Amino acid sequence: GQVLSQGVAAVPRPARNNVVSEEVTVLFGSQSGNSQGLAKGFSRKLEERGFKVTLTSMSDFKPSNLKNIRNLLIVVSTHGEGDPPDNAQLFYEFLHGKRAPRLESLRYSVLALGDSSYEFFCKTGKDFDKRLEELGGVRQSPRVDCDLDFDEPAAAWFESVLTSLNGIQEVSAGVAEGSTATVVRNAPEAETVTYSRTNPFHAEVLENINLNGGGSNRETRHLEISLEGSGLQYEPGDCLGIYPQNHPELVDSLINAMGWDPDEIVVVNKKGDERKLREALRSDFEITVLTKPMLEQAAQLSSNDGLRELLASGHEQELKNYLKGRDLMDLVQDFSLRGVPAGEFVSILRKMPARLYSIASSSKAHPDEVHVTIRTVRYQANGRERYGVCSVFCAERLQPGDTLPVYIHHNPNFKLPADLDTPVIMIGPGTGVAPFRSFLAEREEIGAKGKTWLLYGDQHFRTDFLYQLDWQNWLKNGVLTKMDVAFSRDTAEKVYVQHRMLEKSKEFYRWLQEGAHVYVCGDEKNMAHDVHAALIAILEQEGGMSQEAAQAYLAEMQQQKRYQRDVY
Ligand code: 2AM
Repeated sequence: GQVLSQGVAAVPRPARNNVVSEEVTVLFGSQSGNSQGLAKGFSRKLEERGFKVTLTSMSDFKPSNLKNIRNLLIVVSTHGEGDPPDNAQLFYEFLHGKRAPRLESLRYSVLALGDSSYEFFCKTGKDFDKRLEELGGVRQSPRVDCDLDFDEPAAAWFESVLTSLNGIQEVSAGVAEGSTATVVRNAPEAETVTYSRTNPFHAEVLENINLNGGGSNRETRHLEISLEGSGLQYEPGDCLGIYPQNHPELVDSLINAMGWDPDEIVVVNKKGDERKLREALRSDFEITVLTKPMLEQAAQLSSNDGLRELLASGHEQELKNYLKGRDLMDLVQDFSLRGVPAGEFVSILRKMPARLYSIASSSKAHPDEVHVTIRTVRYQANGRERYGVCSVFCAERLQPGDTLPVYIHHNPNFKLPADLDTPVIMIGPGTGVAPFRSFLAEREEIGAKGKTWLLYGDQHFRTDFLYQLDWQNWLKNGVLTKMDVAFSRDTAEKVYVQHRMLEKSKEFYRWLQEGAHVYVCGDEKNMAHDVHAALIAILEQEGGMSQEAAQAYLAEMQQQKRYQRDVY
């Protein structure tokens, strides 16, 4: 059924005869919570303005209701190679299938979230927008495609939506122009600062240690960070957003290659704040990812023929290959962009995005602290050593006592079951195990009794067993009922977590029948995909289901939030 938006205070509206409040349905498809957060905010604002709002996740929405809807707002993100979020999958398929209804009386607007460094930028939003039109719907406001820095374009989209909805409300209520827009004045609030993505808290680093032993291929930092005085709160399953700094050597190489003055003053944001160039390139801008829009703007600044050619039609595959794994330093070298003024150049860069890490602590066990688990990313590509921006920053240039700009990213799609007796299965190889340290620490604190099963893996038992002592303690005191490990490189044949699942398929299936919630965290492309396939295999083998039935079973679990994933 539909979920009415919750936690929204009813706002008294001036009594006015004959004003029928217009109904608006706000549908979101959200993986990590950004679309959901936006949708919630829009719904609240619409209610404040007198609209009757139904806010619901696409997975909770009955598609047959579409026919009855007059005003629809869609907020949806895109993942990986143009995929819808998990909770949008079924609705997406329904709408694109043969059974989708005609929607002649529907007015709709789509806000698309995405990342312009991906080929299929905002594809899910674009698809919905196109499909609703094909089905006869009337696009009320133009779709807006947001890049990582989505706040401003999202707000602009909402303004445009609001304008057209106000028009509709006035017409249907038959009142004079402008009279239905209710200005709501909030009671004066105490001056409390709320820290958020756009206003991060500068938190002190308490600990920064490498969890891997000598001789490991891996380096994994365990960071303990103080949230004291921030008012920031989190639940297990939430993430910590961290604003890192670019590598100083990469910044200096770029400045040298361009022949810039590192002390030149440049503008770093739309507000017009100014900084020295070297500082700005370290902290304010992304310099390690190239996007097509950025290259298009660079071509305008430099009139480089090679770059123009790469962007010309017919060269799409070449462009795609070029963008992969290259950074700004490659761009300025490959297309000799020297000569472009620093001020103009930085104006085409994306703002430094925060990196999200699954939280590895429980605030009940460690009040005023947050822990994260960060694997250092270093690799060779296109003739140069490359560094993961945030992970290498944390590994090489962050000491206890330093401060780090952080915020809490709430993730409503990765939450422990409300019923403490519900069995919990956690699958998290590598750093994917981080949120399960949070889960178990929390369950220990609140005395949850339901049984728990952790499946974990990494390369070597001796050097890569993250948080080994924690799991052992929880096994001993019963917070963790069962643990299976898969160390992939200790044996001739590789073993992964999904092999352990299949070895114990009978037991796994029994837990599912007992209503277990299944959580998967970690690598999306390989691991999460293979684990999903293993789940299907278990349902087929132990439940005697056909492949279709197994898929439907998992979709149902997903819909009931019994199968949740935090994958990246
Ligand atoms: P590998 O490095 O030996 O391939 C955490 O990174 C663990 O996940 C490692 O043991 C890694 O093994 C393993 N891993 C790699 N690909 C995987 C996959 N498709 N499914 C599950 N685990 C995988």
